[in-house]
Amino acid sequence: MNNSQGSVLWFTGLSGAGKTTTATAVLQKLRERGRRVELLDGDELRTVICKGLGFSMEDRFENVRRIAYIANLLSRNGVDVLISAISPYRAMREYAKQQIPGCVEIFVHCPLHVCEMRDVKGLYAKARSGEIKNFTGISDPYEEPLQPAVTLDSAAASLEENVQAVLTYLDQKIHRF
Ligand code: PPS
Ligand code: MG
Repeated sequence: MNNSQGSVLWFTGLSGAGKTTTATAVLQKLRERGRRVELLDGDELRTVICKGLGFSMEDRFENVRRIAYIANLLSRNGVDVLISAISPYRAMREYAKQQIPGCVEIFVHCPLHVCEMRDVKGLYAKARSGEIKNFTGISDPYEEPLQPAVTLDSAAASLEENVQAVLTYLDQKIHRF
């Protein structure tokens, strides 16, 4: 990858696994290093350019298509891009990797029962009661990555450790600092 191309890290994982938290902390570290970096968060983009999309397989694919498009615009202009989106199907993540040069998957792993116990937004309870349909991990699939560039475990490791693992990966594999 040439130096004018930003790195693209695609954080995937269950709701509540820690994608947003980890990506935000990595963002901060990269900014401290003087890099131009943006975070594209699925939950947030669904309030703006992905507004109106639901959680059917088709809409989730559309969501990922839009995110990949923006990631491409940014990264080809030298901006590092962090994406935090459940992106539950392998095919959609393969699509993203195909569309975005140098894009790699970061699997934010966390056992479902731990995500459910945390239930930060109260969505798991609503999914269990049937108030929310097609909820990832409960009533909709999540296909774990088969060969992610990095696997983090937010139940077994601290945020700091996970951030460091991502930075180490960038330092070793992308050689850009
Ligand atoms: S996807 O699958 O990539 O299109 O999803 P994403 O854009 O990342 O949006 C996930 C956030 O939407 C909230 N939410 C749901 N998630 C999964 N399934 C259902 N049915 C659902 N309904 C609402 C939830 O807050 C997710 O945010 P995170 O940060 O992942 O917890
Ligand atoms: Mg989030």
